[in-house]
Amino acid sequence: MKIGVLAGGGDAPGLNAALKAVVMKSHEYGWEIIGIKRGWTGLLDCDVQALDPDVVKHIHSQGGIILYTSRTNPFAIENGSQKVIRNLKKLGLNGLVAMGGEDTLSVAQKLYEMGVPVVGIPKTIDNDLSGTDYTIGFDTAVSIATDAIDRLRTTAESHQRVIIVEVMGRNTGWIALFAGLAGGAHMILIPEVPYSLSKIYETLKKRHSEGEVYSIIVVSEGANPIDMKNATIKSKQKDEFGHMRLGGISQVLERIIEEKTGFETRAVTLGHIQRSGTPTACDRVLAARLGVKAVELIKEGKFGMMSSLQGNNIVSVPLKDAIMQRKTVSLELYNLAQSFIK
Ligand code: F6P
Repeated sequence: MKIGVLAGGGDAPGLNAALKAVVMKSHEYGWEIIGIKRGWTGLLDCDVQALDPDVVKHIHSQGGIILYTSRTNPFAIENGSQKVIRNLKKLGLNGLVAMGGEDTLSVAQKLYEMGVPVVGIPKTIDNDLSGTDYTIGFDTAVSIATDAIDRLRTTAESHQRVIIVEVMGRNTGWIALFAGLAGGAHMILIPEVPYSLSKIYETLKKRHSEGEVYSIIVVSEGANPIDMKNATIKSKQKDEFGHMRLGGISQVLERIIEEKTGFETRAVTLGHIQRSGTPTACDRVLAARLGVKAVELIKEGKFGMMSSLQGNNIVSVPLKDAIMQRKTVSLELYNLAQSFIK
């Protein structure tokens, strides 16, 4: 048996821990395993490296992914998918593990429908993939964002300012909601819950008239106010999966809040710091469990499936269910976070 493993899309802390699990488990079964470099690009170019326990034994604590990643979509390239299938045969692979979010796993699903023996592992800091409660990288991103909010509180208070912390998450507010709740933010703005600029001014003015001297607002990069167009778009140029680059809402809010309320305001964009560096222990454990399960799925011939976390159990779900619909935040949790705001 010979299997390949790749990571596609944005990197996420914990990917290396998942890779280690995949390699260790495959080795236990006596399989040969190769790493495919730069996501789907490696299968277009046959760019691979041999993997064994010695290569991966210490990578569990390393952020990023040693195989590199890319946002390449073989279905956006002429004859790309056929090339991938040809190269899989050429490499003699009987199984493929794709570690990714919605984009990478939608490619995996299409290839599965074309006969490729592929399984998936859910990773994305955005946590917006269905079929699993959590994805690899989310816990680390939330921890980093929470730490930033904790830190920003002291400077916000000392200077009696409004600080707007912009976090990643694309079209969902998972990171904003979790970090906002954990960090005790005074306002959490997410794409799932429409908000207006006038409501922000009103809330801030009321807070500060009641004696509060500072405010912390957490805003998700994709949370666009209802009374403004395209405030979250950094670049309209689309990637191979059709996504525009998001970013900049905190700067827009900074200018407008200061102007309308008179409160001194600063924007802080956490950006790629949320995706970088050492994974948390929770992400490493989740990655190890999901990685082992993916190899077991291959052993059982359960292709077209993704390992997933449901409750505290590692189970499997069809890839097609995971990618069918974006997983948005729980409104119950959003309401709970609102009830804590003081
Ligand atoms: O999907 C993960 C993510 O970090 C999003 O939260 C963010 O919008 C995007 O990737 C950023 O992508 P890039 O690293 O390509 O700028």
